[in-house]
Amino acid sequence: MKVKIKENAVSEKLNRANSIEGFYANTGILVTGATGFLGKGILEKLMRVSLNIAAIFILVRPKKNQTIEQRFKKLIDDPIYDSIKAIHPSVVNKVYPIEGDVSQSNLGISAADRNILIENVNIVFHVAATVKFNEPLNVAININTKATARIMELCMELKHVISVVYVSTAYSNANILEIEEKIYTTSFKPSTVINICESGDQKSIDLLEDEILKIYPNTYTFSKNLAEQIMSNNSNNFPIAIVRPSVIGASLKEPCPGWVSNTHGLTNVFMLIGKGIARTMLVKKSKRLNLVPVDYVVNIIICAAWHVTLHRNNDVKVYNSTSNAHPIKWNQIRDIVVQCSRETPMNNVIWFPFCILIPNQCSYNILGIFLHILPAFFMDIFLKLSGRKPMIMKTSKMFNQMVRVVKFFGQHEWTFHQENVTDMIKRVKLLKDRDIVKLDLWNMDWKKYIITYMAGIEKFILKEDSKSIDAAQKRLLFLYRIHQIVLMSSVFVALATIYIIYYALTV
Ligand SMILES: NC(=O)c1ccc[n+]([C@@H]2O[C@H](COP(=O)([O-])OP(=O)(O)OC[C@H]3O[C@@H](n4cnc5c(N)ncnc54)[C@H](OP(=O)(O)O)[C@@H]3O)[C@@H](O)[C@H]2O)c1
Repeated sequence: MKVKIKENAVSEKLNRANSIEGFYANTGILVTGATGFLGKGILEKLMRVSLNIAAIFILVRPKKNQTIEQRFKKLIDDPIYDSIKAIHPSVVNKVYPIEGDVSQSNLGISAADRNILIENVNIVFHVAATVKFNEPLNVAININTKATARIMELCMELKHVISVVYVSTAYSNANILEIEEKIYTTSFKPSTVINICESGDQKSIDLLEDEILKIYPNTYTFSKNLAEQIMSNNSNNFPIAIVRPSVIGASLKEPCPGWVSNTHGLTNVFMLIGKGIARTMLVKKSKRLNLVPVDYVVNIIICAAWHVTLHRNNDVKVYNSTSNAHPIKWNQIRDIVVQCSRETPMNNVIWFPFCILIPNQCSYNILGIFLHILPAFFMDIFLKLSGRKPMIMKTSKMFNQMVRVVKFFGQHEWTFHQENVTDMIKRVKLLKDRDIVKLDLWNMDWKKYIITYMAGIEKFILKEDSKSIDAAQKRLLFLYRIHQIVLMSSVFVALATIYIIYYALTV
């Protein structure tokens, strides 16, 4: 591997920083989490923003029956890289997989690879994380918090470091409803929590987790909060940016409209509503959901590395990568998703799509029996009798579990300050290549975006882009009739029950 990085990297960058392209030219970049949704987007944009990047190192862990070479090939063969490969085939040769695992000491990187990084990396994007909200405390702390400390150890060794960007979450302080672009400390110190989690004493870990969950909604957001504090403790050494995205959804435009690559959280909700499996949700319908397209987040991250290098003070700079568009509420989102699911139905829909939003747990549990559990039970019997694999109950249970885990986020709404993001936008507007990054969502058309998002789910997750619209619509019409029959029968049964009870009580 031959990577040519200029000696005096920082001053070189300051001189050539009147364009994003110039900033990234001749740099070596390390990206963790490049196999994930956001990481793939960052990698694609980096390849497009600057063809003169010296090298992009991506940390990849081997997985069951898959070497990192196989994982790398699969990643780079993803159709989202087709357009950049078509224009500049050689850009792919600048991407180098490095075997590593952020949950292991020294990031699981070999000494030889570590030396390559130390010599050649100028800019770091630490994106890797476990995004499971209910991960056991010691797991979340190891992958999200301790791993960030390991990344910082590596950054301290880099010979020509320019800046480091850590991707956190807008909900790292979810216990506060108005979030400024600053680091909030916790009564639980990062080092204390890490020590307890590493002690292996399960009883102490469980006790600590109970205490933490009295204040924070889950182990994920808490572990990201501690990671931010670790970054902040190192802010004297080099420019550090912390980017805090809110809920990341499908792309608006780049690499193509509607692109989405994982089925976490909201994408799963949209998909299950579309399939007719999710029929009620535990959210307050008038609450706002802070949703941001992945390409907007990617652009903020790419620009944050530039902005924090040029406008550095000795504090870490936080960027609340949240939506500044007119807010959208849960009921509006639900209406668009349901309408879209009816107008352009997915394949193999199992029920006529609808979704009732319920604000409290008790009503949700009761409604869940009638809208999720009983229908799933009968549908699975039907599937079994017709020789197919019963799976509705399993999916329904999985959905219910997810609803419980994300409940907190459908019951509250947050206000995010964006002074640093606003300053960055102002300065990016002065750059000669400002048009390559879109950094605000003022004129966001939510309806159009969610329709694109739903189409993206069908195309990239369900791979249904070549489906027969006619067949899907015929099936939907049939399900609509069944839905009406069930609805009328339910009303009849309810009225009959009331009448019988009334008759029994009055006679
Ligand atoms: N998605 C959102 O709505 C959202 C919102 C706010 C913030 N964020 C933040 O954005 C970042 C990316 O999220 P995402 O949605 O792209 O999640 P994702 O699709 O699950 O990607 C997670 C990435 O982290 C990697 N990773 C996990 N554990 C690792 C380990 N032990 N060693 C090395 N790599 C590891 C994964 O690698 P494998 O492929 O090997 O599993 C994957 O590349 C995270 O930091 C998350 O906290 C996400």
